[in-house]
Parts: sequence; structure tokens; C-alpha cells
Amino acid sequence: MAEQTERRDCAAPIGVFDSGVGGLTVAREIMRNLPNERIVYFGDTARVPYGSKSRETILRYSRQIIRFLRTEQVKAIVIACNTASALALDEVEKELDIPIIGVIKSGAHVAAASTVNKKVGVIGTESTIHSGMYDQLIRAEDPKITVYGKACPLFVPLVEEGWLKDPVTETVARRYLQELLDEGIDSLILGCTHYPLLRSLIGEIAGPDVRLVNPAYETARELERLLAKHGILNTQAKPPGNEPYKFYVSDAADKFKRFANSILPYDIETTQKINIEEY
Ligand code: DGL
Repeated sequence: MAEQTERRDCAAPIGVFDSGVGGLTVAREIMRNLPNERIVYFGDTARVPYGSKSRETILRYSRQIIRFLRTEQVKAIVIACNTASALALDEVEKELDIPIIGVIKSGAHVAAASTVNKKVGVIGTESTIHSGMYDQLIRAEDPKITVYGKACPLFVPLVEEGWLKDPVTETVARRYLQELLDEGIDSLILGCTHYPLLRSLIGEIAGPDVRLVNPAYETARELERLLAKHGILNTQAKPPGNEPYKFYVSDAADKFKRFANSILPYDIETTQKINIEEY
């Protein structure tokens, strides 16, 4: 009986959620690193952005999304959104009986391990930066590290517009990054789901002496460790012909699908819109 339960749990999907399309950068890393795993992704496209909202609101949204994901029998949850990881993870973790992780701890861990001069920059939404969560977690690992945070609210709309290499984006990026570079940082955390899509531009501006940390990559590896620890890592290949990834949104499914197909290593066939306020 226990064995049967375990087998069923291993084959169950992982729930991944974000305020919209940005969390697909995290889903992409999970697809690459854990090819046996199925994913149910929810993008809260009706209520994006989260980055300028209060903790209470983000907590309410996160609880609703988790209730929805549980109707899909997910075995674990990944909060792919930095803002929701910063503002809601601690609280919802206490309420759940399945494993859940966010993206901030992984990013903080890699940055703390990689900085040599103990000066780390973090860029993210207003809410993520003001939460101080990256700062807190990095300094818990090494109190000698100084963390310099910078909110970059214009990056999200620029990425959603597809202006990844545009001169306008470059001007904005130079302006945001200059004060961090002036501090002499040697590591920079891309602390928002959308920023890995600006990686090459940010890398050119920051220069070769600044290591860019993408929390999405480390989160996928942390997820693997978490699933293994709970005995629910899927070691069996997914059966062919069976749709392994499901995508749900709260609005504008077609727009989401177009964006997703431009960044995923796989073409999404359907995206379903649901009314998240019902959960
Ligand atoms: N997904 C959000 C994050 O990583 C960025 C977009 C938003 O503000 O909702 O913080």
C-alpha cells in the first residue's frame, strides 16, 4: 500500500506558479534539469504585476493559487515568482503538507558562495527589494557580506514588450546598474523572473568581473534535492504521447502562449484560462 502511494506520488506533477509569464524561466530550468517530471504551471496574468503590491495581497493570491494547484494533485510546489517568494513563502509553507520552495533561498546561497570581495548586488521588483529577504538570507550565510539592493521596475514591462536588446532597455539598464557597479560588486543576483531574459545585456553592462546569478537555475537543482529527500523524485521517463506540461492563466491565454513559445524549449499547444478568484 505504502509502495503504491509512493509510486503515485512520484508520477504526480509539480505545481509552479508566478504572477505571469516570467516564471517560465524557472519552469524552463525544471524542464531541462528534471526531464522526468510533469509540470502544472499557473501564471496570474490577470493580476500581474505582483512587484508593487502589499504582502497581504500577495499572500491572498498565493493561497488561492495553491488551492487551485492542489486540485491538480501536485506533489510539490515551486513559487517561481521572486516577489511571492519574498512575501508569502514563509507563511504558506506553515499551512502545507506537501513540499514547497521559492526562488530566493537558492539565489542567496549561490551569491553568498560565489562572492570573493563580499559585495553582492541584487536587482528585483520594489516589493522584493523592500522585503530585504535576499539581504537577510545572504547575511545569515556570511555576515561579512554587504548586499546592495536596487529595484528596477521598468525591466518587467520592457521584457514583456520583447525589447531585450533595444537601445531604450540599454539606457534604462545602465541607469539602474550604475550605482551597484560604483559600489564594486562582484556578484549580481537577477532577483526577478524576467531578468534572466536580459542576461546578455546586463552582462555586457556589468562586465566580465561581475558574476550574474540566476536563481532559476539553482532552484531547479534545489527542487531535485527536495523531491529526493521526500522520496518523490520521478525516476521513470514520462510516457510518450502524454501531455507532460499543463499551463493555466487567469487572463489573456493567447498572449501567454505566444510568449511561452518564444522562451520554452517546447511548443505549448493549449493554455487554459481559469477564474482564480473562485479558489
Ligand atoms: N514575477 C515577478 C517577480 O519575480 C515579476 C513580475 C511582477 O511584478 O509580477 O518578482
